[in-house]
Amino acid sequence: MSQAASPKVELHLHLEGAAPPAFIRGLASEKNVDLSRIFDADGHYSYRDFTEFLRVYEAATSVLQSPEDYYRLTRAVLSESAASGVVYSETFLSPDFCGGRDLGAWREYLHAIRTAADEATRDDGITLRGIVTCIRHFGPEKAKQTAFCAAETAGDWLVGFGIAGDESVGEPGDFAWSFDMAREAGLRLTAHAGEWRGPKGVADTLDALRVERIGHGVRSIQDLALVDRLAEDGIVLEVCPGSNIALGIYPDWRAHPIERLRERGVKVTVSTDDPPFFHTTMAHEFDRLADAFGWDDGDFAVLNRTAAEAAFCDRVTRDMIIKKLEAA
Ligand code: ADE
Ligand code: ZN
Repeated sequence: MSQAASPKVELHLHLEGAAPPAFIRGLASEKNVDLSRIFDADGHYSYRDFTEFLRVYEAATSVLQSPEDYYRLTRAVLSESAASGVVYSETFLSPDFCGGRDLGAWREYLHAIRTAADEATRDDGITLRGIVTCIRHFGPEKAKQTAFCAAETAGDWLVGFGIAGDESVGEPGDFAWSFDMAREAGLRLTAHAGEWRGPKGVADTLDALRVERIGHGVRSIQDLALVDRLAEDGIVLEVCPGSNIALGIYPDWRAHPIERLRERGVKVTVSTDDPPFFHTTMAHEFDRLADAFGWDDGDFAVLNRTAAEAAFCDRVTRDMIIKKLEAA
């Protein structure tokens, strides 16, 4: 049975990466920006590999130039998520893209995004919380400014801090100062690791940044001692199988390690990362997991429960999500 209508919890979604291509084309045309090079003949985002994906992502993001643009983006993204059954989502936001790391500008972008999120809760029944991410290939100095913006706006809506971008650049320890600042401000921590680098990248991230969740983390499977450490320490993986397959890390769904990680006791969750870039939705991810590994309603209930428990929101919000999951 298709999982399309079942309630879902998503923890790993890049707001700009979730922008529908038609939405970005519309903004580009309003602003007279020629972005035709980033789309293929069918109007989808077009890239050959991860490096080009990051370039296309940043080109698409370049037409998001005001709080109003982010308000419209957030409404468009949450309407797509809700249509896929998502009842609670955490999204990555970057002051790098929202006001160039200027605190005053960042506050305005954040206000616009929160307004859109509140309206989506009212209209689409979906709840959103934000996680600020610094961008690894922009370097540690910019990450400090980003962490400062995050720390100053930490609270009941802006609940986490993390790092995305090109994992091959620099070392996790280069960003420890920023993560320490975020932790001291009360933000919960996650980091992209083990997507492109192997198990050592994951272990170094845990040691240097002391995060409780890892974005992707799938290459941990190459070192079973690390897998056991993840399981024992209760580290939650934000696994994005469709993203990994679209970017060529695994050839197909059956080859994806999510099932082996789960079987060895790791807390896995499932997300879409940048859904239109990878031709996916949360409903599609769930359906493909059912096809590839025979996951049934019971497996998906555990998956959603793990995600709800690992969410960075407050207790009242978590209880509300769990009620929605259990009512289904
Ligand atoms: N930014 C957006 N998507 C990403 C991914 N899959 N890995 C790293 N950084 C990203
Ligand atoms: Zn990601």
